[in-house]
Amino acid sequence: MKTTASYAKELDTQDPLAEFRERFVITDPDLIYLDGNSLGRFPKATKTLINDIMDEWSDSLIRFWGDNFNIQKDVGNKVAELIGASPDEVIIGESTSVNMYKLFVASLMVQEGRSRIVTDDLNFPSDIYILDEINRTLGNNHTVEIVKSPDSMTGPVEGIKAMLDEDTALLTLSGTVFKSAYNYDMADINKAAKDAGALVVWDLSHSIGSVPIDLNGSGADMAIGCSYKYVNGGPGAPAFLYVRKDLQEKLRNPIAGWHGRKNQFDFGLEYEPKDGIGRFLSGTPDVLSIAPISVGIDLLLEAGMDRVREKSVAQTEFMIALWEEHLKPYGFTLNSPRDAKWRGSHVAIGHADGWRINQSMIKDVNVLPDFRAPDNIRLGITPLNTTFSELHTAVMRIKQIMDEKLYENHQLEMTVGEGT
Ligand SMILES: Cc1ncc(COP(=O)(O)O)c(C=O)c1O
Repeated sequence: MKTTASYAKELDTQDPLAEFRERFVITDPDLIYLDGNSLGRFPKATKTLINDIMDEWSDSLIRFWGDNFNIQKDVGNKVAELIGASPDEVIIGESTSVNMYKLFVASLMVQEGRSRIVTDDLNFPSDIYILDEINRTLGNNHTVEIVKSPDSMTGPVEGIKAMLDEDTALLTLSGTVFKSAYNYDMADINKAAKDAGALVVWDLSHSIGSVPIDLNGSGADMAIGCSYKYVNGGPGAPAFLYVRKDLQEKLRNPIAGWHGRKNQFDFGLEYEPKDGIGRFLSGTPDVLSIAPISVGIDLLLEAGMDRVREKSVAQTEFMIALWEEHLKPYGFTLNSPRDAKWRGSHVAIGHADGWRINQSMIKDVNVLPDFRAPDNIRLGITPLNTTFSELHTAVMRIKQIMDEKLYENHQLEMTVGEGT
């Protein structure tokens, strides 16, 4: 593959998604933002929307609730369209962590007699903390098996399948792994789990908006995921929660608030869950945080996930070619799968001096990636607003850091509180 600046420019000229960059606020054109996989850029339409909501609140006061009362299901239905779910299978609300808690507990409560919970060591740590604490709360009657990746990059598919049998209650994995961007074959895993009678909860935080997802088509039971990464929903935007339709009535929400109760305005003291996905609601929706998610989803639906994926693959391939030519000679390793089929939309590169190089990228050359221990510099590519030329320039700036040893001016160790 060609790796020149002029080729990058040519690819930008031919890019069918190029106009989407204009839909985002870009205040520093020199900054190369490669962290949209952690916090997506700010869509221009979000600013207008937030102002409109403020006006509506000012004018209508309690009458504000009207249609806004159903925002969790309304935006959920929009998200469903993006991730291959059916209407009334998705709601928005709470954080990813809280939604995980709801679905993990709900799953374990219907899997009586099965004691094994399975995950892998590539999963987001929060997911494992939640599993461990649920196990403790429920009396330590389960074992949490963390299957090890052979290389800290690739999903241990065979090891996971070997753990699925009549004793397995729950399997939970990240669809796209947060460090390496490894992508699981969801249909393959779902089938193996189903054959064993195990339920599956997918963490799609790094998948939604970056890779096409077909929850119904892949036979997925349940899923949760962030909306502040590739969905551009804004800092701390609430998460989505998906439950397959025929499973909904079997599960109970362990955080059973009034919004999940049938006839909630009866204010009766007995809890009876709503029919359908609404039973997974708990409390009053945070409208100001949920509304912007619809802007991000609209942008992705308009672009089309097939086109987003096509550009993402082209851009991650381009980045890998640039790594091979310009960064590998300085000792950088490729910490993401080489084959695009198994890769999401970021490229992780490793280096023994990774932390210092990452700091130098941010402070010396105006490139903003993020760092995940022990040595991963994550280069997040968001096809709606990242250009091929930016990728080329970013790699040239990293090369400059290495040639001029700029990273030596930065501290060796990550200090507490420093995440990027
Ligand atoms: C893969 C994954 N799962 C879960 C979480 C936790 O999400 P939250 O902090 O919104 O609960 C994150 C956060 O970055 C994540 O990347």
